[in-house]
Amino acid sequence: MIKLTINDIPLEVEAGTTVLEAAKRAGISIPTLCNHPKLTPYGSCRLCLVQVQGARTLQTSCALPAAEGMVVQTETEAVKKARQFVLSMLFSERNHFCMYCQETDGDCDLQQAAYHEGLTHWPITPAYLPFGVDASHPDFILDNNRCILCRRCVRTCDELVGNATLGFEERGSSAYLVADYGVPLGQSSCISCGNCVQMCPTGALIDRQSAYRGRSTDLKHQTTVCTECALGCLRDAQTRDGHLVRLDGWEADEFAEGLLCELGRYRPLKEVRLRLQTPMIRREGTLQPASWDEALRLVATQLKAHGSDQINAAVSPRQNIESLYAFRDFFKESFQLDHAFLLGHDHSAELSQELAADIGSFEASLQDLKSAGMVVVLGTDLTRDHPVAGFIIKRQAARGMKLLEITNEPTHLTVNAANALNLTAADYGPVVEILQALSQSLPTDTLAGQLGWNALQLNAFSGSALDWSQAVFVIGKDFAQPAYRQAFEDLIQLARSQGAKVLPLKGKANATAAARLGLKVWDDPQANRVFFLALGDGHHCEHLTPAFAGSEFKIVHAAYASELTDLADVILPAAIWSEENGHYLSSDSRLNEAAQLLLPQEQSRTLREVLAALAQQVGIPLGDDWQKAIGLAEALAA
Ligand code: SF4
Ligand code: SF4
Ligand code: SF4
Ligand code: FES
Repeated sequence: MIKLTINDIPLEVEAGTTVLEAAKRAGISIPTLCNHPKLTPYGSCRLCLVQVQGARTLQTSCALPAAEGMVVQTETEAVKKARQFVLSMLFSERNHFCMYCQETDGDCDLQQAAYHEGLTHWPITPAYLPFGVDASHPDFILDNNRCILCRRCVRTCDELVGNATLGFEERGSSAYLVADYGVPLGQSSCISCGNCVQMCPTGALIDRQSAYRGRSTDLKHQTTVCTECALGCLRDAQTRDGHLVRLDGWEADEFAEGLLCELGRYRPLKEVRLRLQTPMIRREGTLQPASWDEALRLVATQLKAHGSDQINAAVSPRQNIESLYAFRDFFKESFQLDHAFLLGHDHSAELSQELAADIGSFEASLQDLKSAGMVVVLGTDLTRDHPVAGFIIKRQAARGMKLLEITNEPTHLTVNAANALNLTAADYGPVVEILQALSQSLPTDTLAGQLGWNALQLNAFSGSALDWSQAVFVIGKDFAQPAYRQAFEDLIQLARSQGAKVLPLKGKANATAAARLGLKVWDDPQANRVFFLALGDGHHCEHLTPAFAGSEFKIVHAAYASELTDLADVILPAAIWSEENGHYLSSDSRLNEAAQLLLPQEQSRTLREVLAALAQQVGIPLGDDWQKAIGLAEALAA
């Protein structure tokens, strides 16, 4: 531990702590611009200057490690004068006359620092050159005229996202931000995660959706989980006057640490599907508006008139746990349907659940990705299916983590992999045999031959640098299939024998909770007398269409019009993710909350409301102990 004093307060901090961090711990605030706790210190803006006893000049506290016996002052006249000078220089270098900017008056860190330091004018004559504005990106705009060259965006894209799209051209005050080698952002390698925009302390990177729709202080902020995939990244959802304005990553989130991908940040704000407004009933061949009472009575009559083998019911894994539980209680427990199933093709959650029941729990946590020495990605395109996990793997690979990738086709991770193998036949069984043989230093040539591996590929997998005890096997839906159940089990046993970890990533938002409730995917759904489809705000499923179309009486609970709603006999308009509260269980079983951000539109209702009303009509009780049903009751009580 290191002892120092800041503003005469004695402090004790761990070696490696910066003076800025030490001051923060003591409740002393030092203004910063280029610094961000999630990024490596860069020390470019010089706003965080402090006076250190014995030092010839003022020092940048964000890049200065605390040293034994250091005596620091943060509010001397010299420091205050230096801050004013730094800010004057920054305001003179570019055009910061931002009278229309939404960031002005508190949201822009530069303006905020100026107000805080009492800067009323700057004595340096502005001498800036005008820069062009890059508006080529669909989600955000780059205005170099507002840039303070802090490189927070560059470091975010590089250090946190692992994408390395951004950089600077020219030097000194002429420097300007570019994508790749100077191409427009919209044509660059950018993957539209928007994390650089969230990190920008000024209005130089500005979000198209939220720009000019209110300052941060005008918006209502609520923490809510992302309902797009099963990673459970937490978001800071910002609304105003009944509209969703912006989604940012929630920085206190232990796993994602404030990162989001395009699906979680921008997609929900770009919804263009036609919203269903009212219940509809097919009369004489055409769908016509109806009241909720009429629609529910008709559905209840149909359900009561048919046996458990004559009704299909399917539910989207995007539904919250409360609705999944109501679905299971209603259709599986009460109606005892032969086919109450989960939409989609992803078996990873149910297979992991079954294997854990058979051979004991085996799943690693998402946090393990951050400390792994090696990651073997097996059967998933992470940058498509679970992008933030892909970011973490990409950035760790750049820091020396070994990445092996075995997938159906090349992915955005492939370029970071020490070796990547594409299995056109999607035959993952022998892969596990090879991994087993490699771990025991057995000859693998014949097996490799079966897979079509050449010596080079085999060497990469058997290289001496492989340390299996540091490995995390990331399992995706192409490997976690019933056909590879034995291979999956073998892989778990291999990992156990080597001290490695296994991390299955599980489909859509609530696939883990659905598996715990016993809801399974049905790969080959068949038509039936009645089909109840709880699609919610999910997308149309093509593989379901023939079975749904072929069923005699079709009911769909959906938020948006689709080919499936066109086929229905009864449409029940559904609330969307932002219109109800509920819970989600992440891939690694963290329980997260989704907050209700907006009032439900028109007559839409949640699935649990619909099922509660139907339960009343058919005269069955519905339980509400979902915590117990998914095996969390004890954990929550503890
Ligand atoms: S949006 Fe994401 S990928 Fe694109 S430049 Fe910003 S951080 Fe990089
Ligand atoms: S665009 Fe924003 S984050 Fe990037 S260097 Fe300029 S001011 Fe900093
Ligand atoms: S990785 Fe998944 S949970 Fe995270 S923001 Fe993207 S879609 Fe949402
Ligand atoms: S915050 Fe320390 S130099 Fe910018």
